[in-house]
Order: sequence, then C-alpha cells, then structure tokens
Amino acid sequence: MQASIGIGILGCGVVGGSLARRLLAKEPHVHGVEHTVHAIAVRSLARNRGEGIPPSLLIDSANALLADHRIDLVVETMGGTTLAAEFVERALERGCHVVTANKALIGSQGPRLHALAARRGASLRYEAAVGGALPILRTIDEALAGDPIESFVGVLNGTCNAILSAMERGGSFEEALADAQRAGFAEADPSEDIDGLDSAHKLAVLVQRAFGAAAITPRLRFRGIRGIDGDALRRYSKRGYRMKLLAAARCDERGIAAEVAPALVPREHPLGALEGAQNGVLLRARDAGELYLRGVGAGGPATSSAILGDIADVLRGIVARTQRNDRIDGFAPILDIRPIFPDTLAIWNDGFLTSPATRLDAAHSSSAH
Ligand code: HSE
Repeated sequence: MQASIGIGILGCGVVGGSLARRLLAKEPHVHGVEHTVHAIAVRSLARNRGEGIPPSLLIDSANALLADHRIDLVVETMGGTTLAAEFVERALERGCHVVTANKALIGSQGPRLHALAARRGASLRYEAAVGGALPILRTIDEALAGDPIESFVGVLNGTCNAILSAMERGGSFEEALADAQRAGFAEADPSEDIDGLDSAHKLAVLVQRAFGAAAITPRLRFRGIRGIDGDALRRYSKRGYRMKLLAAARCDERGIAAEVAPALVPREHPLGALEGAQNGVLLRARDAGELYLRGVGAGGPATSSAILGDIADVLRGIVARTQRNDRIDGFAPILDIRPIFPDTLAIWNDGFLTSPATRLDAAHSSSAH
C-alpha cells in the first residue's frame, strides 16, 4: 500500500489558510487518499493564523519546504510571478507534483512550466486559477477532450462584476471595491482587477487549454473598467443592457483571436444575468454546441474547493501511477493573436459584436428630445 502522501503548502493567506484547514481536518469526502501536510511556508511566523493551523507546521523557509523529501506534492498559494515561478520550477525539477491557483504565473509562464513538468514526469494542475470554483479546465480537458472548442466568452473577474453590479444600483465604485476587498475577492493590488490584467491572465490560461496554443498574457490586448461612467451604465441598464468585463476568444481558420474588454450584454443573455462576484463562461464546441458554467469565481472557500479537487486528482494519480496532466501534449507556438473588440463600447450578442453602444446613446438622446 502507498504510504501517506506528503504535502507542502507555500503561503497561508486567504486561500492557503482555508485550504490548509480543510486538508488538516481530513474531511473524508474531500480526497479518500491518505495524505499528510508536512509544512506550510509563510513569510512571517509572528502572524496569528487562527484556528485549525498548528503553529508547529509553519516554517519561514520555502527552501526548506522544497528540500523536504517527504513532500510529493507542493501547493502554491503565495501568488506573484517571481518567487512563485522560482519555487514552482524547483518543485517540478525535483519531480514534485504542483497544484496552484496562480493565474498570473500560468498565464505568463504556463507553456514553459508544462514543458518542464512533462520532462520531469510531474503533474501541474491549476483549476482554481480560472473562475474559482467553476470546473472550467476539467470541462475542457475531460468532457470536451474529443471535441474541438471553437470559441468561449466569460466574465472572469468577480471584483469587476461586483463593482459594475453595484454601480448599476447607484452604488459607488469605491464602496463596491472596498466590499470586494473585504470579501477577499480583490487582488492585493486591485488595479490588476480593475484594469483587466487579472482577466487577461485567465484568458491566457483558457486559450492555452482550449486551443492548445502557447498564448501568454503579454500577447493579449486587454482593457478594464476604470473610469466607467455610472450614469451611462444606468442608462444602458434601463434599455436592457448590462455592462460586463468580457474575456473572449475564438479559434478558426484565420488563427486565434482573444481579448478582454468591457461590453454591453443583453440582460437576458446568460452572462448578462450574472450578479455580484459571480463568474460565468460560455463555451462553444463543434459537436457539443454551447455549454455554460456559472458560479462563485473567487474567495477562500470557492478557490480552495477547486484546489482540493486538483489535489484529490493528483493524489489519485500518484496511487494509480499516472501523471494527471497527461492530456497536455504541449502547446503549439502562435505568431499572432488578433483582437476581438472594437475600440468603442460594443454590444455582445451571441458571440457577435453588433452596433456599437454609442448608437444606444444616440437613440437615447434623440428619444429624450
Ligand atoms: N481578483 C479575482 C477576482 C480573484 O476578483 O475575480 C479570483 O481570481
């Protein structure tokens, strides 16, 4: 019988803390494979981590964690791309499996890290990096493994969606952002949410997985919601359109087009119905047609649910002696990613951009006269 599988966790913030508590509680329905958390690497040992995390597991050296040969699986929840990249790389080099929620890391370096994981026979999993609890990568990799994905469009940033929803109701941008920060949705630097970079990282990850293309975040055009006019938002809303920050992509004979931008979505469209910090992704596959996933896109519990799903899968893979990212055979290089959205605010309708929203404004002002 396989001895208990050793786990090390890098980071113990909102996500890492929630995850560590659940792993240590050994909830039987979560995994069903014997495992032991050997260490949690944190920046400061002085900070109180609250109930459920024994101080004896905390260490202030990621190097010590990475050198601990009892550890088979490293869970990275520290965020960032510099130290996190170095640590993930070292773990993979050693043949350790890695589970991460780090969209910036995978968005910017996913293809390179996958190549390393494949060379070392290690699994690299990151369901939580896109859409929190939404099983979007698993849907692409498993359910649609035999069906080419043609396009997808999603609302992938809960903070922006919460801000836009609140502004529609007359609330202020700043209050809605403060609420998202209190709820643990916003990034440490919320400009990453507001200016669209967070969505762009997630878009890059989805393009990599949906189209098997080596897309990385710096190759994508993205815009955010900074400076959005609340009065205009409410006017559009009265006319049946809601503003959403969309991440969209398609793959056809001309290549790949992908972009993040705000657009108006009809209220009755599945993405138009998303409230607060919800996320949603509409996928269109050649044979399956259109599929829609919607749910909690951020926060400790939802994110740790997705991480735990990956951990469980990797643990089962270790027991079954299979590598759990073996569906990825490498990413095709791409020369160019075309943008999708026009420069002016547009209306998104079933995958096609129709009349720019400025026409709605023109219609509004002429009907007002
Ligand atoms: N800042 C992100 C959001 C967190 O608001 O959606 C989840 O990736």
